[in-house]
Amino acid sequence: MKVLVTGGCGYIGSHTIVDLINNGFDVVSVDSNIRSTTQLLDGVEKITGKKIRNYKVDLCNLEDTHAVFHENRDIVGVIHFAALKTVPESVADPLFYFHNNLASLVNILKCVKEFNIPNLVFSSSCSVYGNATELPVVETSPLLEAQSPYARTKQMGEQMIRDYSKVNDTQSILLRYFNPVGAHPSGLIGELPIGRPDNLVPFITQTAIGKLPKLTVFGHDYDTRDGSCIRDYIHVMDIANAHTKALQYLLAKKNKDNCEVFNLGTGNGVTVLEAIKAFEKISGVKLNYELGPRRPGDVIAIYANNTKAKEELGWVASTGIEDMMRTAWQWEVALRDRVLSN
Ligand code: NAD
Ligand code: WQD
Repeated sequence: MKVLVTGGCGYIGSHTIVDLINNGFDVVSVDSNIRSTTQLLDGVEKITGKKIRNYKVDLCNLEDTHAVFHENRDIVGVIHFAALKTVPESVADPLFYFHNNLASLVNILKCVKEFNIPNLVFSSSCSVYGNATELPVVETSPLLEAQSPYARTKQMGEQMIRDYSKVNDTQSILLRYFNPVGAHPSGLIGELPIGRPDNLVPFITQTAIGKLPKLTVFGHDYDTRDGSCIRDYIHVMDIANAHTKALQYLLAKKNKDNCEVFNLGTGNGVTVLEAIKAFEKISGVKLNYELGPRRPGDVIAIYANNTKAKEELGWVASTGIEDMMRTAWQWEVALRDRVLSN
């Protein structure tokens, strides 16, 4: 059974391809490489022994996207990861984000319709909840004001798929990821931020390896157990496996509705200082960090209720924060060793 993965050269897409192959699926990828190279697909090949074809196509181009679907009429589903994801960049250039993330989705839906593709899985985000007032958030929690144009593209993307699913046969699943971190345990694939990372875990590992001088903890006077923000960090391989499970669930026609939504988090809130401690423990490295001012736009705390994904998809978030940090660190060290040996 063949699956079309968009954004397959990216962080979560590449890890999901590994899990799909391990579960017997064939995969083709479409990625314009606007935020990637094919390096992670080389890693996927080393891990799985399978060479993945990537169509270097911008999904905002309907003609090129159509040609990919035309050549792959036999796919059983699409997993749509491709999007821009940098929050501050989206604040600075909202139109870039609206165009890239939403025009591409319209084109995907047009092709899914024309080629009668039965199943669609969409990368959504906990950012759709905005500044959630009740914790943990459940799938039925209200979607409050989006805190960035990026988050708005996820709210709108979800709504577009929901409206589409009301009048078409495609079965869709919207997966709301919390904070995906870590890497495949082989050290052959992982997160490859372009330029200076925004996210905590690559910032920690790049500081520890000496690429960055110091980490600033954004805020230490919040009303939390140690004053720093709380997030639900979730291992990227657990996120990856949820996609396989979602597709299997749709293929087995277990879905209750044409468009269903699932939270993907561990259910555990971890503070920034706890994340740093976990990193120091597994790496043996004393991290150079300082307590700094709050980052504008940060929510104080968010974590998932993941009961629905557990019960309906049979999914478990099996990895704890230390193994998330361990694999992220192995990947950073492997990247350095590869540079040194070249
Ligand atoms: P990533 O940047 O590593 O991968 C996204 C890939 O999509 C990149 O390889 C990029 O080149 C490609 N792409 C972007 N626009 C494209 C277009 N118009 N046509 C073709 N390819 C295009 O990001 P990721 O972390 O793997 O995220 C995957 C998805 O998960 C995204 O939709 C993101 O919004 C969502 N998400 C990510 C996180 C996170 O923290 N990483 C959290 C929640 C949701
Ligand atoms: C985590 C915590 C920071 C960097 C973002 C998107 C969200 C989703 C996941 C896509 C926060 C703190 C960070 C640093 C720090 N992505 N931090 N120093 O902001 O929870 O979520 O990624 O959908 O939409 O907004 O993730 O990794 O940036 O921050 O103290 O140098 O680490 O304040 O508390 P965030 P993050």
